[in-house]
Amino acid sequence: MNVCVIGTGYVGLVTGACFAEFGVKVICADRDESKIEMLERGEIPIYEPGLDDLVERNVREGRLSFTTDTASAIRSSLVIFIAVGTPPREDGGTDLSYVDGVAGEIGQAMNGYKLVVTKSTVPVGTSYRVRDLIQAEIDGAGGEVDFSVASNPEFLREGAAIRDFMRPDRIVIGADDEAALAIMKDLYRPLFLNETPFVLTNIATAELTKYAANAFLATKISFINEFANLCEEIGGDIQGLARGIGLDGRIGKKFLHAGPGFGGSCFPKDTRSAAFFAREKGQNLEVVEAVIRVNDRQRERMVEKIRAAVGGDLSGKTVGMLGLSFKPETDDMRDAPAIEIANGLAAGGAVIRAFDPVAMREAAKLLPDLTYCKDSYEACENADVVVIVTEWNQFRMLDLERVRQKLRRPVVVDLRNVYEPKSMQEAGFEYHSVGR
Ligand SMILES: NC(=O)c1ccc[n+]([C@@H]2O[C@H](COP(=O)([O-])OP(=O)(O)OC[C@H]3O[C@@H](n4cnc5c(N)ncnc54)[C@H](O)[C@@H]3O)[C@@H](O)[C@H]2O)c1
Repeated sequence: MNVCVIGTGYVGLVTGACFAEFGVKVICADRDESKIEMLERGEIPIYEPGLDDLVERNVREGRLSFTTDTASAIRSSLVIFIAVGTPPREDGGTDLSYVDGVAGEIGQAMNGYKLVVTKSTVPVGTSYRVRDLIQAEIDGAGGEVDFSVASNPEFLREGAAIRDFMRPDRIVIGADDEAALAIMKDLYRPLFLNETPFVLTNIATAELTKYAANAFLATKISFINEFANLCEEIGGDIQGLARGIGLDGRIGKKFLHAGPGFGGSCFPKDTRSAAFFAREKGQNLEVVEAVIRVNDRQRERMVEKIRAAVGGDLSGKTVGMLGLSFKPETDDMRDAPAIEIANGLAAGGAVIRAFDPVAMREAAKLLPDLTYCKDSYEACENADVVVIVTEWNQFRMLDLERVRQKLRRPVVVDLRNVYEPKSMQEAGFEYHSVGR
């Protein structure tokens, strides 16, 4: 079976490489020539642990290739995955122009039966919109070609994407016809065999499931952050509270970490998008709307926390920022809390020295005025406060004596609660964290 993945970003490249690893022949198409050139040279345009080896092996064994010629990739494939970006619009809705563009290209290149699968996260109804756009192209050309559409939302986490794709908690497939379902089952056969749960449903449900999953996870984060803020008022400890509730199997321990709020390329845009299209349907998602508001406030609160830690006035202060990516093990800076925090600090007159193990190149595009440092200690040099923004492993094991010597004042604001308050105080720091 030949598979074509259109859009070779975080999702498309992982999807393509993992299907190739399953043994099918995959061609990944992207209109970004520089990306495809890099991949053809054996370089990986994004940081994702393990992806380089996977891509290298499957290219070498002839199962994975790359192209900018989307039309010929479509023509040579039975299954076409759409994995292009679906960025947020100003009004909170979803920009479907990339999806629409791809649907048009597919319609023009149709040369026989194909299954067109939406893997991008898209508002309910988009797979049918794709179907209609393809059909319009076919009709326009006066042809008659049969095809199916399906929805197969992706749940991988950046930083653990390969593991998540190879050993997912579940696969959700929305399809309306037997042919589509049979092809999808065949494609995912290795996961069927290892007893991965499959949720087979209709297209609208599959599309909505992705939003519901992200909205629920975002809800857990906003929920714990509100209780963290309350803990700060009453002398509580959010980590004890999170454990106290998380050990209840109905609640679960995951996603109960207080911090600067959720960020990244998915949760902020997907919660807004879900709220937007629910409003359009006259069915407000009140919980999701509140989750978004709480998250926005949490980021502002982090700036206030840092301001308070330097004595109430940021003007002329130097802040060392450790971590910029929205979470560890990725270079993705889309909607990272670090952006709003850095901008808030700069607006107050602070100067920022920053270090991130892999995201500095991406960060520099969005935050050009930061001083980028070669390591954590350089970022602490003469700083009035050091702020841990992303919980990269290397920030959990800092040489604290060295940090203290580098800082102008021994003040640490730990937005990820990676250190223990008592031991930080014993190490000579004025230590602030979230919800403790
Ligand atoms: N990043 C994640 O962790 C994640 C997880 C699950 C789902 N998703 C969803 O998957 C989708 C893709 O996300 P991503 O993070 O991989 O995006 P991305 O921006 O990393 O990649 C998208 C790619 O699509 C390419 N593209 C755009 N238009 C094209 C066209 N007409 N032809 C060929 N290529 C085209 C772009 O050049 C880019 O390389 C989004 O809908 C996103 O919400 C993302």
